[in-house]
Amino acid sequence: MISKQQLVSFLCIALFVFTGIAATRLPQNKVRNLKVLPNDISDLALDSFMHSYSKALGVACDFCHSKDKNSTNELNFELDDNPMKEAARKMMRLTIQLNKDYFYFDSTRRPEYLNVVSCITCHRGDPMPADLK
Ligand code: HEC
Ligand code: HEC
Repeated sequence: MISKQQLVSFLCIALFVFTGIAATRLPQNKVRNLKVLPNDISDLALDSFMHSYSKALGVACDFCHSKDKNSTNELNFELDDNPMKEAARKMMRLTIQLNKDYFYFDSTRRPEYLNVVSCITCHRGDPMPADLK
């Protein structure tokens, strides 16, 4: 038989170990493949950016994202295989710079999150806005 004392110390150790594991899995600093957006961006904000890109260009997620070659049919959003993703990064830098240089009205916000000028300002639902008249 194990004593009450042994049981208590076992439970304490178990709790210690589990909180330790939980602490290393906190979602704050997920490993993401982000080169323009801040790495500590929330899932919600990331999602809303992505939907705004799709809407602004009138495209679906697979315009910029690609599937894993070998396995699933699902898009792997971390991959950089689709050249449109790098094209979009250039555009994101341009948009951030425009807001930072000309429309930084709210100094409490990070430049990446300013959106006076956004993709839709130029794209208007078209991936090739140079031809829009
Ligand atoms: C116009 C191009 C474009 C479209 C359309 C787009 N994305 Fe993205 N997405 C990007 C770029 C560029 C990045 C990387 C951003 C960076 O480097 O900061 C990214 C990153 C992501 C990430 C983060 C992946 C990681 O590294 O963890 C997710 C998740 C994501 N996109 C989901 C979506 C979803 C869902 C849609 C459709 C609703 C979508 N994207 C549509 C360009 C796009
Ligand atoms: C100042 C205007 C402007 C803004 C803001 C802008 N774009 Fe663009 N974008 C353009 C122009 C012009 C082109 C060239 C398209 C063409 O040849 O017709 C382009 C091209 C692109 C392309 C490449 C399309 C292709 O087929 O080669 C992508 C992807 C893109 N933009 C995504 C974005 C995203 C995502 C944003 C917001 C983060 C954005 N753009 C913001 C003007 C803009």
